[in-house]
Amino acid sequence: MLTAYDYSFAKILDSANIDILLVGDSASNVMAGHETTLPITLDEMIYHAKSVVKGVDRSLVVVDLPFGSYQGNSKKALDSAIQIMKESGAHAVKLEGGEEIEDSIKRIIDSGVPVMGHLGLTPQSIYKFGTYSVRAKNKEEAKKLKKDILKLEKAGCFAIVLEKIPAQLAAQLTKSVKIPVIGIGAGSKVDGQVLVVHDMLGMNTEFNPRFLRRYANLSEIIQDSVKNYIKDVKEENFPSKEEEYK
Ligand code: KIV
Repeated sequence: MLTAYDYSFAKILDSANIDILLVGDSASNVMAGHETTLPITLDEMIYHAKSVVKGVDRSLVVVDLPFGSYQGNSKKALDSAIQIMKESGAHAVKLEGGEEIEDSIKRIIDSGVPVMGHLGLTPQSIYKFGTYSVRAKNKEEAKKLKKDILKLEKAGCFAIVLEKIPAQLAAQLTKSVKIPVIGIGAGSKVDGQVLVVHDMLGMNTEFNPRFLRRYANLSEIIQDSVKNYIKDVKEENFPSKEEEYK
């Protein structure tokens, strides 16, 4: 699974046979430039998801319900899920949290919308945690996670993202459920992996967590291309005779 936020990227990732495209609320960071995922709105998520859906032939498209569109109110959660599915054409939604959002998850699933859960580091709760450091290193938090993953499975989630937790705990949690567990910073003993596409393609050079592997350095490739373009234009090497209309 990789994130996607627009038509052109979705088309490239889909044609490279990615299984799942996540229209993550990380769009708030990498597309809108916000410091956290909190400011992005339901309408903005719908805009991104709609564009991704248009670029996809085969991948499953999962879209994040943004902060403020589901917490603390299962009716609001249901309305948000229905609106995002209806207006974007996405195939499923993802929500962050465990026991505290169980009712919302059940209500959304009962309406016919598939739900992916998200446990461990849940960036929409950054001001509760205070940091983006590894979660569930203490027994109490690990115990809650073990309870939460079972609750999400029982509630009917079709898959769960586990973010930034110790690899050994992630392996245990994965074994404890039958549904697929997709990790980010959760080691290799899970069922699948997800990364933010801007991070794995090296478009975002300031973000360097231990779990991130960069498969390209697009920021350097783009900068070099733009420098060459500027040089060509200034030196009147672009456009050439062949690039002119007669
Ligand atoms: O918003 C996002 O990109 C995510 C992934 C990091 C799992 O939730």
